[in-house]
Amino acid sequence: MQATFHAIREPDWPEGLVLYPGLLTGNSCQSLLEAVEEALKDAPLFVPRMPGSGRPFSVRMSNFGPLGWVSDKEKGYRYEPLHPVTNKPWPEMPAILRDLWARLVDPRLPPEAGLINYYAPGARMGLHVDADEEATDVPILSVSLGWTARFRIGGLRRGGHTLSLVLKHGDVLIMGGTARRCYHGIDRIYPESGPSLPAAIGPGRINITLRRVTLP
Ligand code: SIN
Ligand code: FE2
Repeated sequence: MQATFHAIREPDWPEGLVLYPGLLTGNSCQSLLEAVEEALKDAPLFVPRMPGSGRPFSVRMSNFGPLGWVSDKEKGYRYEPLHPVTNKPWPEMPAILRDLWARLVDPRLPPEAGLINYYAPGARMGLHVDADEEATDVPILSVSLGWTARFRIGGLRRGGHTLSLVLKHGDVLIMGGTARRCYHGIDRIYPESGPSLPAAIGPGRINITLRRVTLP
């Protein structure tokens, strides 16, 4: 699975932010994209909406695993065991993601949600903190596929200093420690900057974040 196992941490990054550039090889990325394509047949991308306003996100989503992150106008951000449109359980977490989690996060406590974010050209994600999990101390593991993105991360409060890093096809990012509680988002994706996604998904970027939701 690993081409290189080179962890990058920088002194000006929040503590607990670790980047593994190109950790997933081309073949692993390809198998993972096939697993995503297969999962989306059963659990199609849905349009999440802001609580209250009902404004749609530009990113479309689905999930792997026993729990999936969803959001709608009425009930807001939360985890659900069923897809909001099909009312079926989410597809099983692929072994490649479970293995990655076991290696980089925790071999005993498996991830419960694998949030699939699809960024079509022009999609972005505003600064936010991932705070809908009970297991707030367990790191989040993020895998990037397809076009390159500019990821932004700030501090524990909105409005402070931020920095950006580039996430490419095959990159794995861990947000643990302080970084687990930092504001972060995606400024933009760069057209044609990485391998094409399967035609059934469309052009752009896939990001998968693995999360532990409940406390053991
Ligand atoms: C997220 O914060 O949930 C997604 C980050 C990304 O797309 O890299
Ligand atoms: Fe997030």
